Amino acid sequence: MSGGVYGGDEVGAIIFDVGHQNLRVGYGGEDTPKAEIPTTLGVWEEPADSSGIDCNNVTKKHYNVDVTAIQVRKKDMEIVSLMKDGMIDDWDMFERLTEYTYKQRLHALSEHHPILMTECPWNTRLKREKLLELMFEKFNVPAMYICKNAVLAAYANGRSTAMVVDSGATHTSAVPVHDGYVITQGIVKSPLGGDFITMQCRQFFEEKDIELVPACLVASKDVVRERDPPRWTKRPGPQPSSSWLSYMVRELLQDFQMNCLQVSDSPYDEDMANTLPMKHYEFPTGYNDDFGSIRLMIPEALFDPSNVKGVGASILGVGPLVTTSVGMCDMDIRPSLYGSVVVTGGNSCLQGFSERLNRDLASKTPPSMRLKIISANSSSERRYGAWIGGSILSSLGSFQQMWLSRQEYEESGKLILERCA
Ligand SMILES: Nc1ncnc2c1ncn2[C@@H]1O[C@H](COP(=O)(O)OP(=O)(O)OP(=O)(O)O)[C@@H](O)[C@H]1O
Ligand SMILES: [Mg+2]
Repeated sequence: MSGGVYGGDEVGAIIFDVGHQNLRVGYGGEDTPKAEIPTTLGVWEEPADSSGIDCNNVTKKHYNVDVTAIQVRKKDMEIVSLMKDGMIDDWDMFERLTEYTYKQRLHALSEHHPILMTECPWNTRLKREKLLELMFEKFNVPAMYICKNAVLAAYANGRSTAMVVDSGATHTSAVPVHDGYVITQGIVKSPLGGDFITMQCRQFFEEKDIELVPACLVASKDVVRERDPPRWTKRPGPQPSSSWLSYMVRELLQDFQMNCLQVSDSPYDEDMANTLPMKHYEFPTGYNDDFGSIRLMIPEALFDPSNVKGVGASILGVGPLVTTSVGMCDMDIRPSLYGSVVVTGGNSCLQGFSERLNRDLASKTPPSMRLKIISANSSSERRYGAWIGGSILSSLGSFQQMWLSRQEYEESGKLILERCA
């Protein structure tokens, strides 16, 4: 143990994997996280004086955390993300979320468990320092470690060298990992992730005049025939904010995405798309229809954004993200990157994602290059890639000497962060 400091009690480590959509959290050594909690919070303000008489215009911020509390329809409650560009941005909100997580979801005391936190490969030094300070000083954790999510996703798939393709909510990235370290100059990303697909779906329904009403606003509905106007009644209650409504509509569209969309196994072709079996989908209002070619057309943008309105030519599809990234790495390691292309992130659970990536890469790499796409079979393993890697790493005997202990933090301060690659 470096400095012989963290005693390595038999208490399980807690793994935190934070993303734009969710925080995934649970105990090291387990297969899946204990909880998935949205990293968007309901935020509302009230006069600071509880009598309601607000003489000095002083207000107090309140936070609604987790799925149920966010769904509460409350006038003037805004839905706000605590993340920005893959990194923690609002530390107050992150603190609330962490408090809630320990107390309500893990029923654990922060001072009892070492924690392993994931970070995106482009996290800044200042943000890492802030995280270290918050966890040691506010949450009194006994030990901590910070690890790049791409490295952990590679570990989860049994690799320490890999090209990690992570398609999450807000972006898709290609991150080369060599011997457990990210090759920083090879990181390539695009803003096309699951949220972009959601936006495309939203546009499609708006153009078709299909009203998108989240289930929590529907009190009752009648059964109607396919494509007939829906007959439904609205649940009474206060008028929600537009950010709340957008969030709820996003949830509704994500359900459509998961159930209906599919990535075409070759570049989109209208005639071929028309031969795809139709899929029936019913909205919370009772409106229902069969969907065909659109099921392939919307996700096509991930692989070929060139035809999408408003998307600049500089934005790369998934295949070019990978080839560009590999091209920025040393010649010597290119074969090992192409030989282990790890696919992870919730948006990669779209049916056909890995198959299409395989096809697009095969057509761009020389036949002599061995290409292997590694994607976990179950969608939960793919969604939890980084978390699972953290769970594995934290339970390895050889990792125990890596923890940054409280004593080391007290002695050397933020300098100890240099031990986290
Ligand atoms: N089974 C599925 N089929 C299709 N899409 C899915 C599926 N499961 C999750 N998604 C999509 O994956 C996205 C969330 O992915 P993920 O949980 O990896 O994001 P995140 O890590 O929280 O966010 P980010 O990586 O942007 O910081 C959402 O857009 C969601 O719609
Ligand atoms: Mg992510």
